[in-house]
Amino acid sequence: MSGTTDMILVNKDGKRIDGRTPDEHRDIKIEAGVLANADGSAYVEIGKNKVLAAVYGPRECHPRHLQDPTKAIIQCKYNMQTYSVSDRKRPGTDRRSVEISKITAEALEKVVLTELYPRASIDVYIEILQANAGTRCAGLTAASVALADAGIPMRDIVPAIAAGKADGYVLLDLNKEEDNFGQADVPMAIVPSTNEIVLLQMDGNMTREEFDKAIEMGVRGCHDVYKLQKEALLNRYSDGGDSDE
Ligand code: CDP
Repeated sequence: MSGTTDMILVNKDGKRIDGRTPDEHRDIKIEAGVLANADGSAYVEIGKNKVLAAVYGPRECHPRHLQDPTKAIIQCKYNMQTYSVSDRKRPGTDRRSVEISKITAEALEKVVLTELYPRASIDVYIEILQANAGTRCAGLTAASVALADAGIPMRDIVPAIAAGKADGYVLLDLNKEEDNFGQADVPMAIVPSTNEIVLLQMDGNMTREEFDKAIEMGVRGCHDVYKLQKEALLNRYSDGGDSDE
């Protein structure tokens, strides 16, 4: 997010470098139930991002001191693979992955009926196989489909997408160049049935009017993602539910 570049990110016809209009998201592909040995799983592509999510649980929470006698806890692990970015990423946990794991679990806690499973843990693993900006949103989108695929009771599914600003324009779903050289990035996630925002972050600067526009664009984008999440789950079960085996 440098805010400046000689690169033209939005041309005079309002087209972005990948040919999208400002309010268009990248191509999205979602598949549910892709792993045979997890309780639930999902694979998501958003543009060049490739993300896998797997869910285990609810199961007895270990270590025991983390158990909550009133509800299940959601333990999330976001992991960026070494080969997922252009510069080799050092393997293992870093501050960024701890932060993304935390905000992802907090967003999911808003929809999962955790009170049904006291002392349990629901474990969510997110693997970023290929990154091109927007991986936290792709990861959360995949994780909520994987939770639904695991049959875990939820109030709703959580879709996520980022809006932002580059070349002075408010844009939906920034790609890597727009994220690197743009002026702001605003990832968000909602509960579609109520439009409640369950994740909202901001990197960079924008005016109040631009921020309002970004939220409006992002919420609309989330509803598009939601449609594809539901389609993925319907396809999974219309395939007989055993497509991974
Ligand atoms: O991926 P997301 O936009 O949610 O998170 P970010 O921290 O804003 O990172 C933006 C992008 O920077 C990632 O999607 C990757 O493409 C890239 N990145 C990278 O190349 N190397 C890292 N160690 C971290 C991020």
